[in-house]
Amino acid sequence: MEATNEIPEELFTFFEAMPRQGPGSEAVTGALFERFQSMLPENSVAADMGCGTGAAGLVLADAGVTVTGVDIHRPFLETFERHAAERGLSNRVSTRLAGMTESGIAPASLDLIWSEGAVFTVGFDAALEAFWHLAKPGALAVVSECVWLQEQVPEVLRSFWNQAYPGMRTAGENIRATETAGYRFVHAEVLPSEIWESDFYQPIETMMARMDRDISPGMQAILTEQEEEIALFRQFNHLYGYVFHVFLRP
Ligand SMILES: C[S@@+](CC[C@H](N)C(=O)[O-])C[C@H]1O[C@@H](n2cnc3c(N)ncnc32)[C@H](O)[C@@H]1O
Repeated sequence: MEATNEIPEELFTFFEAMPRQGPGSEAVTGALFERFQSMLPENSVAADMGCGTGAAGLVLADAGVTVTGVDIHRPFLETFERHAAERGLSNRVSTRLAGMTESGIAPASLDLIWSEGAVFTVGFDAALEAFWHLAKPGALAVVSECVWLQEQVPEVLRSFWNQAYPGMRTAGENIRATETAGYRFVHAEVLPSEIWESDFYQPIETMMARMDRDISPGMQAILTEQEEEIALFRQFNHLYGYVFHVFLRP
């Protein structure tokens, strides 16, 4: 799910039916959490920024973290809460209908800030600034963000992503940005391209194949863009991808 500034309503509708709204997987989220859990206090308090239907937040809550899901789309939050209830995690999950840069979460209250595929909506640097104020000293931030893995890329790819995400940078540029903002860089890793396929693009393709083709022009435009995004990814996934950036607020 990629969009900037004005997010068309059809894009929300399309992704309401999806198990997740961006590339990633429960296994990857769980493995990253386990890897850095020893840097966190027992019973950590976290926010899942741009949580969508809670793909990441549910994994954190299942691991014992108390999670506030923050998102601007109410139906996503309702699904997150429903899934939390189905898994017996309601006592550790709450949600806020808000933007991540004005979430209303108390300053210096979070041990962990998690955000998968969502900070592009406000810009990586604006998210860094907002998260700084919410994080306790010593808190960790884990942010997955789409980045260029190579500087030289074909024009067709550059122009697609210039439209979809004009602010897309390299992981190196993002890491430097975390340090400029005052954080300590801890770790970065690329989300394997197989996970985009298995947990994101294949469910999208299954849904598109089932959809009635008698749809609004807006929804048709979304399907066309998804098809183009998937085709480009299959050709060029060695040139760009999601990177998990892990950094600490001193
Ligand atoms: C690509 S989706 C990722 C969702 C989820 N993290 C996942 O990985 O499945 C981006 C999410 O950011 C949300 N969003 C858009 N603008 C936002 C903002 N300003 N603050 C918080 N969330 C926002 C969207 O509603 C959507 O749920």
